[in-house]
Amino acid sequence: MNINDIVKVAETRDIYLWGARQLGFSMLNSFSKEGLNVKGFLDSSPNLQGKIVLGRPVLNPDDILSKPPEDNFIVITSGFYAPEISDCCRKHGFSHEQDFVAAQELQTFDYQIDISGSCNLKCISCPRGNLTRHAKPGFMTADVFSKVLDKIVHEDPMAGAVALYNWGEPLLNPQLPEIVGICNKKGVNAAISSNLSLKKDFTDTIKAKPTWFRVSTSGYGASYEITHTGGKWDLFLNNMYKLRDLREQFHPQMNTEVFYHIYKDRDEDYKQMAELCDSLNFTLRVRHAAIAPLDNIEAIIKGAPVTEAVKKTQSLQTLSVPEAMEIARENKELPCPYTRCLWITWDLKIMHCMEWYNPDMVLTETNFLDTPIEDILNARSNSSFCKYCQSEGIHRCFLVYGDESLIEKRKSLPQN
Ligand SMILES: C[S@@+](CC[C@H](N)C(=O)[O-])C[C@H]1O[C@@H](n2cnc3c(N)ncnc32)[C@H](O)[C@@H]1O
Ligand code: SF4
Repeated sequence: MNINDIVKVAETRDIYLWGARQLGFSMLNSFSKEGLNVKGFLDSSPNLQGKIVLGRPVLNPDDILSKPPEDNFIVITSGFYAPEISDCCRKHGFSHEQDFVAAQELQTFDYQIDISGSCNLKCISCPRGNLTRHAKPGFMTADVFSKVLDKIVHEDPMAGAVALYNWGEPLLNPQLPEIVGICNKKGVNAAISSNLSLKKDFTDTIKAKPTWFRVSTSGYGASYEITHTGGKWDLFLNNMYKLRDLREQFHPQMNTEVFYHIYKDRDEDYKQMAELCDSLNFTLRVRHAAIAPLDNIEAIIKGAPVTEAVKKTQSLQTLSVPEAMEIARENKELPCPYTRCLWITWDLKIMHCMEWYNPDMVLTETNFLDTPIEDILNARSNSSFCKYCQSEGIHRCFLVYGDESLIEKRKSLPQN
């Protein structure tokens, strides 16, 4: 199935995108360019249901699954849970290609362009703070970024959004406003994720109009400074208000999300964060705090030595690595969603995997600009490391941490 088939379907049916995040924004943008009207998003996250995201309402998937399939057509735009959602569609009488398709069948890769090769914080749950070996730091220039984006648009035309981060802090890149501007000029949505714990005037970045701005956080007040190690709460809080003001002034449509990592014994912190997000009109999304990257998960399950920062994170986690890995192993036959994510570093390396950090683990010997997409796909499908990772179930570990239904099941947040 290709975009022309979907344009045809849209003549008689309403189109819904299941998954209101990066891949959903990508498809919404690409479909709009084809003149295709998307009726709305579906998302199982209660925090999103009832909201308007990029001008479209977010519905509970049941609202559409309970109707006869012939009225609607679903495009699955969840980057990580597409197989589970496909199963759910089938169970409700929706047939693949006739009534639903996965965005992964239309777009080859999700692009994580790490325009900053460094971070201002050393969070204990992140390789920036819990590993000692790092790749060379630096920033992608706007000129280079422009070439990267041209290649993406040419080789993967349905890619309507790119993330401007992976392990780096995008606001550190002095050319971020130009980079966001390039995205808009070329008709590609820009996604930013920031710790917002830095002394930096980001007015020009918001003026440049990124589509999506995520703020990563954990805790509230003093507890924040433990897990967002090196961060200053007052500075962070001040920047949250500033972000709200700048959004109101320059870019009211900007999708603004707070991504809150859940650690144990922080019920009051969570309540305060929820109130803050309400007052600022930021969407609050949650996930169990993981210990990144997968290099650390491997070390833990193999009983290999880990750093003090990893041990400290383990002591604060509400979902432990053995618990998460037990669930991950139960699902290890499910595919790995990261095989279709591409981490491109500031100096144009194509790394093997966005969730592994070892600087030696490149996917291709040639840089992104010199490597045709077919060669990248080949390198991916022939990777013996992927086979190893999947045989251990490690590839599913972070999906367990991101599973919002598990947060509910385990009552990891205060109950109303
Ligand atoms: C490593 S950060 C880099 C981007 C930026 N510096 C930031 O903090 O958002 C990339 C993504 O990983 C997520 N992340 C970081 N630490 C995490 C943890 N312990 N558990 C779950 N997600 C985490 C962040 O929320 C962010 O969206
Ligand atoms: S199998 Fe493992 S190494 Fe390969 S893409 Fe998936 S998570 Fe990454």
